[in-house]
Amino acid sequence: MNGQRLPREAGAAGIDAAFAAAVLEGLAQPQKRISSAWLYDRRGSELFEEITGLAEYYPTRTEIGILEAHAPDMARPVGRAAVLVEIGSGSSRKTPILLRALAEPHAYVPIDLAHDFFLASAHALAREFAGLRICPLVADFTQPFALPDALRSEARPRLGFFPGSTIGNLSPGGAIAFLRIMAGALGPGAYMLIGTDCTHDPTLLLPAYDDTRGVTAAFNLNLLARINRELGDKDGVNDGDSESMDGRGAGGERFALAAFRHEARYRRERDLGRIEMHLVSRRAQSVRLCGRRFDFAAGETIHTENSYKYSRDDFRALARAAGWLPEECWSDARQRFCVHLLRLSPHAPHPRTMRRAEPPATAPSSSSF
Ligand code: TRP
Repeated sequence: MNGQRLPREAGAAGIDAAFAAAVLEGLAQPQKRISSAWLYDRRGSELFEEITGLAEYYPTRTEIGILEAHAPDMARPVGRAAVLVEIGSGSSRKTPILLRALAEPHAYVPIDLAHDFFLASAHALAREFAGLRICPLVADFTQPFALPDALRSEARPRLGFFPGSTIGNLSPGGAIAFLRIMAGALGPGAYMLIGTDCTHDPTLLLPAYDDTRGVTAAFNLNLLARINRELGDKDGVNDGDSESMDGRGAGGERFALAAFRHEARYRRERDLGRIEMHLVSRRAQSVRLCGRRFDFAAGETIHTENSYKYSRDDFRALARAAGWLPEECWSDARQRFCVHLLRLSPHAPHPRTMRRAEPPATAPSSSSF
């Protein structure tokens, strides 16, 4: 979800061509990097679910607490028979809180990449909310998309929902581009509810991204396991077809997981803070993938994620830069997390006719993804 095309079709050999291209290109950069979007294969999604329940990972339970306390206030301005559009919904426990608060919600449109559990959890909601139309949309939300035809033609209130501080995993410029895409998809007068982690205390942040049980480490290292599984030579998906794999020898060439370790770093530039996740090479080593060799010095890293932390006002400035009007913001007692309600003017020009806005002054001009 960081500004690149996300996986869609698998290549003839069973390799996902987009994944292979992203890995090979990312590992060829001076600062090796792979977008965090690739962390979420089936195993990665399971590990992430586990992260959300960790004592150190405060964002999930904090956001749920805010939603439980204020959902009626969030839903009231939106009005009756709204269409709820949730972005990157995964297996959300937050959606029912919102659906219960909305007056007779008309339809629920979860948008995600194709994952079985995404479709399954979307349909599980149908049981609790009889009469609610469930219209899952498989789409890459970093690219312009449209709501399903049946909903597009109807003049009902629209509410976008993007919880989990996932917007922080985009660069500030990417977040603005995303909000513009949402403006185009939802249309004039729409609302958006967005969860953002606004914590700047490294003593809280670092354990949240590097827990004592090592679940976050396993989540990050799973990316290398996934590369081995999907792009590696041996028991990867290319089984048997060794003729076409020139340059790939036997043994010791895929990622040795024990030769890398997880590291979370906190960086602060001016007002804007972010957590970075890295995979650190424990020693000098080479890895061969798809016939190409990648060298690692001892201590060299692969940058796998950014998680930007926005103060309330910084996020409001970012929303305004994307054409959205900040209406309200709810927080927990310790002000660790914010849920912002944004609105598009009912008379907003279509985003395609709007001039591109620059990221707010607080955003670093070059960000990693
Ligand atoms: N959106 C979540 C966040 O930035 C994603 C996340 C939480 C995450 N913990 C992580 C991503 C650990 C990678 C590794 O907080």
